[in-house]
Amino acid sequence: MSTVSSSSPLHWPRTLFARLALILVVGLALAQTFSFFLTMRERDESMTNMMVGYVEREVASSVALLDHLPPEERAQWLPRLARRSYEFILGPGDQTGAKPDAELSERFANSIGAGIANRYPMTVNAVPGPRERFQVHLKLSDGSPLTIDMRPVAGMPMSGWLPLVLTLQLIVLGACCWLAVRLATGPLKRLAKAADTLGPDLKAERLPESGPEEVARAAKAFNAMQDRVSMYMAQRMQILAAITHDLQTPITRMRLRVDVMDDESTGAKLQQDLKEMESLVKEGVTYARTLHGTNEAPRRIDADALIETMVDDYLDAGQSVRLSGNIGGALMAPPQALKRVIGNLVDNAIKYAGEAEIEVSTRDDGRAVISVLDRGPGIPEESLDAVFEPFVRLEDSRNRQTGGTGLGLAIARQLTLAMDASLTLHHREGGGLEARLALKKTA
Ligand SMILES: Nc1ncnc2c1ncn2[C@@H]1O[C@H](COP(=O)(O)OP(=O)(O)OP(=O)(O)O)[C@@H](O)[C@H]1O
Ligand SMILES: [Mg+2]
Repeated sequence: MSTVSSSSPLHWPRTLFARLALILVVGLALAQTFSFFLTMRERDESMTNMMVGYVEREVASSVALLDHLPPEERAQWLPRLARRSYEFILGPGDQTGAKPDAELSERFANSIGAGIANRYPMTVNAVPGPRERFQVHLKLSDGSPLTIDMRPVAGMPMSGWLPLVLTLQLIVLGACCWLAVRLATGPLKRLAKAADTLGPDLKAERLPESGPEEVARAAKAFNAMQDRVSMYMAQRMQILAAITHDLQTPITRMRLRVDVMDDESTGAKLQQDLKEMESLVKEGVTYARTLHGTNEAPRRIDADALIETMVDDYLDAGQSVRLSGNIGGALMAPPQALKRVIGNLVDNAIKYAGEAEIEVSTRDDGRAVISVLDRGPGIPEESLDAVFEPFVRLEDSRNRQTGGTGLGLAIARQLTLAMDASLTLHHREGGGLEARLALKKTA
């Protein structure tokens, strides 16, 4: 599932890396923010409780002090008795407002009441305005009015560095998530890469069987699977090789018997059939071998000389093969395998078109290209891929004249894969087929 739902505008990221990172980062950031606000709330709550208790004692002693002072000295004490959230006013204050109904004001008013109300009867009223504010009115023992003007504040303002710390925490959290997700998805990437490189020669890189337990177990299972596949392939090849080997003797015996047959026309037909059986058996074993890759090690070769020799051999055999262009440098390739691939392509051109043309060049990306061209019937677009499959032969080539087993291109494709080269078939302008082989050149 790549999206949450097809109609939803929210897209679930496609990679496992992004999904895990998203879940972890969002989850942890939410949890972190939630706990930050809970801590702040708890801190404000205990600060307010502390301040309420403090106001109760402070106000009680300040009122007692003012009461004991001679009236003319009281005014000069007022600034010293004022605090961040309240001050004293000598006078009746503003008594127009209603009883305070805000929770904080009520708590402070109650606490002031608890400190002084048993000695000084008091009234409390809110003062309307932009900030929460209320006044407590009372009379000192000489009858003079005193007002406590209070602007209650909850908790303590946040320090300037706190948001910075929170941001830093979120950054550390993000980095940890990134690391953890990378650690979790890295082995998957390596596994996919190893499975991708498992080519026809079944010689993929072995995964290191180390690291966390789950990863090591997966790597072990992958390596074991790779070994099993190799073993099955080897067995298949051995069976094919054994059958071929054992078939050769009865075929040879049959040929000898056919040679001494009286009926010449039947004998010729049987000889033809036996020849086809022999070539089928030979090609079969070659295909089985190439399935296992080529055992031949790549060597630095002069491809121009190799192709020229091949062309000379064809000309000597009376075939029409032309060569143009050159590579002009060395190639790293297994020579026998390369010869076999080019040979199979040239054989096809000769078989289906009567003649072949080899064009050699170097592409802009530095790859050497060997094209085998002909002006024969070509291959229909829809069969260009299918003819690479083993034993696939097109209708018009299924006649006795052309012969063949349908393994030539399958073998060529297997060998090119093992050589890390590419082999493709293309239509030619004006009819015919181009088989294009592209190989890496050496530096
Ligand atoms: N140059 C070509 N022109 C036309 N058709 C071709 C050409 N090359 C290949 N084909 C078609 O592709 C089919 C498969 O080719 P492939 O070389 O694999 O087998 P084959 O030539 O039939 O037998 P062999 O195993 O002897 O090579 C052929 O049977 C033929 O129909
Ligand atoms: Mg062929």
